[in-house]
Amino acid sequence: MKIPFGKPIIGQAEFNSIKKVLKSSRLVHGSKTEEFEESFSNFVGGGFATSLSSCTSGLHLANIILEIGHNDEVLVPSLSHVATVHAVEYVGAKPIFIDADVETGNIDLNLLQSKVTSKTKALIIVHYLGLPLNMDKVTEFCKKNKIFLIEDCALALGSKFKKKHVGLFGEIGSFSFYPVKHITTAEGGMVISKNKTIIDKVKKFKAFGYDRPLNQRIIPGMYDINLLGYNFRMNEIEAAIGIEQLKRLPSFIKKRSINMNVYKSKIRHINNLRLVDNNLSEAINSYYCAVIILENSLKRKRNQILKILVDKGIGCSIYYPGPIPNFKFYKKKYKTKATEFKNASLFSNASISLPLGPHISKSEINFICQKLKNIVEKFS
Ligand SMILES: Cc1ncc(COP(=O)(O)O)c(C=O)c1O
Repeated sequence: MKIPFGKPIIGQAEFNSIKKVLKSSRLVHGSKTEEFEESFSNFVGGGFATSLSSCTSGLHLANIILEIGHNDEVLVPSLSHVATVHAVEYVGAKPIFIDADVETGNIDLNLLQSKVTSKTKALIIVHYLGLPLNMDKVTEFCKKNKIFLIEDCALALGSKFKKKHVGLFGEIGSFSFYPVKHITTAEGGMVISKNKTIIDKVKKFKAFGYDRPLNQRIIPGMYDINLLGYNFRMNEIEAAIGIEQLKRLPSFIKKRSINMNVYKSKIRHINNLRLVDNNLSEAINSYYCAVIILENSLKRKRNQILKILVDKGIGCSIYYPGPIPNFKFYKKKYKTKATEFKNASLFSNASISLPLGPHISKSEINFICQKLKNIVEKFS
């Protein structure tokens, strides 16, 4: 049996849609990106949206637009994809690393206040594994300290707190459509905001800083440049895939929740394993993958166990192999110590991420859990 960790589900609708775009010859600057943006903002239930080449470019532009730069500090999670923190480095600001909450892997909100200085300009949060943070506490903290909030929603499409979609709580939220995410456009991203001015700025920065888009030019080819923009646009082929994927998203999310319940019912009976989940009653989790923490004597056997699972055809991963401050680049720059980020290190060194997406069936999860049980019993 071969069970991939993640697998995009691409159907006939996506093929037909790509074909139409290719035949139209309009591969960029077309109506597909606009249609995708409109559908996306309808899905999240409000705000404004603009498509991008990736979630990383969204996080980068968020820092630029909020005028974060040299001499500023940004509070960031230690447990995340490195993109979350690279975005702060791109603008020359200093990331202040915060350890993870041991239960959920999310940034530990109890540690934030002690790290605030007169230089703190923003907080970036990641809704780890699609498990939303307590956004009442997050927004209260940002308001009290007069700092911006950027939400990295790369793993959290479909996640809500008190019925509000993640990404709409702060200044800006950024999403990823990388192939193993909740929906895919191959590479791609989207930023959302309640504030139209912010999204209008993103539109300028993602397209070189043109003073007017292609369809608003009075004389074709004539434009002026009023800021230092980038080429971070999504193309029409990607957007055409995204439109079709978005139609399937409710069924994808439902299947993820069903799959998580199967994991819950099985893992509970295996000693020395903890399945990471959220206890927040106000949260709707969109479950990105199933992360198990190996406890007690199993902790040090993570790499061996992961290798055995992979040899048995079970696609696994690690979310994330950091902590980010312990990656060579950051360690060298900020002289961080491995012992500083205890909980993030636990996730990095003693967890295994298992497949949970809509591509896997109940019987495949039963197979994974049975194999896990056998291995764990052998190693305990
Ligand atoms: C939390 C988080 N943020 C950002 C990214 C980067 O997303 P993208 O590949 O769309 O730039 C990832 C990628 O997995 C991620 O997990």
